[in-house]
Amino acid sequence: MSNNPYASQSDTAPPEAEADIQTISRETSNSDPAWEGWLREVELRVPDPDAAVDYYAELLGGSAVDGTVVLGSSTRIVLDEGPPGFRSASLDFARGFEPAGMHGPDDEGYVSDPDGRRFKISAPAHIEERLTDPQPRLGHLTFESPDPILQQSFFEKLGFKVSEGLGQNFRWLRCNPIHHTLAFSRAPEPKLHHVGIEMPDRAAIVDGCDHIAKLGHFVQYGPGRHLAGGNLFVYFLDRYGIRFEFFCELERVYPHNRDPLIREGVDRDRSINIWGPQPPEEYWQGV
Ligand SMILES: [Fe+2]
Repeated sequence: MSNNPYASQSDTAPPEAEADIQTISRETSNSDPAWEGWLREVELRVPDPDAAVDYYAELLGGSAVDGTVVLGSSTRIVLDEGPPGFRSASLDFARGFEPAGMHGPDDEGYVSDPDGRRFKISAPAHIEERLTDPQPRLGHLTFESPDPILQQSFFEKLGFKVSEGLGQNFRWLRCNPIHHTLAFSRAPEPKLHHVGIEMPDRAAIVDGCDHIAKLGHFVQYGPGRHLAGGNLFVYFLDRYGIRFEFFCELERVYPHNRDPLIREGVDRDRSINIWGPQPPEEYWQGV
């Protein structure tokens, strides 16, 4: 079974890539009822977490503060020792959550999703975040999962909404107007596909590419523009083999209760990149 979630899509429907790219709102509304959740932190495992703090701060345009990598005004990466990969993530949810039917939470406030990933859930009274940040920040996490639909059901209980889907193979989920905070693509094993770093604009992506090249890294895939969410993207592997994405111009979804857009037969070559070039096979390998 291929890890490529686009591979089994039929080509029966004509491509509608251009029509699906929507105007991006730059408005900010702190009283918007759509603001239910926020991805605050991701914890990654690496072999040398102490050294990795400075490495990631430099690589991603953040700063090393008290052993964590601070990105933008309110997100961070925490590092733990172990084989490279995902350890947990922290989400703030203003409306709290209903644990019935969920795996947890345990005493430390963690829940486990159907694939066994750990998420720490906090419930502040309200969440005020900016739709855009002048600095690179943690934007989203995309996971490989044997069952993206089961993942969807689980995170809908937390308040997430489906922004887009690709047949039964991909789900992009939002917890605020930003098109996706979590995404799940069908694959045989639960893995982390990439950590999305939101850049303030396209110029910052170019600068980011120059920067990672200077640090000895190569772009793995991109630049291009995804159909789902309409964002510009560039993917690269860090020194541990963890994939990161620099992205910008990701759609903001309005109205709050907009129906999910589930595509059933898009042109698969354009669905991952409306500009055309396809990713190398190794792009589909998660950690
Ligand atoms: Fe992404």
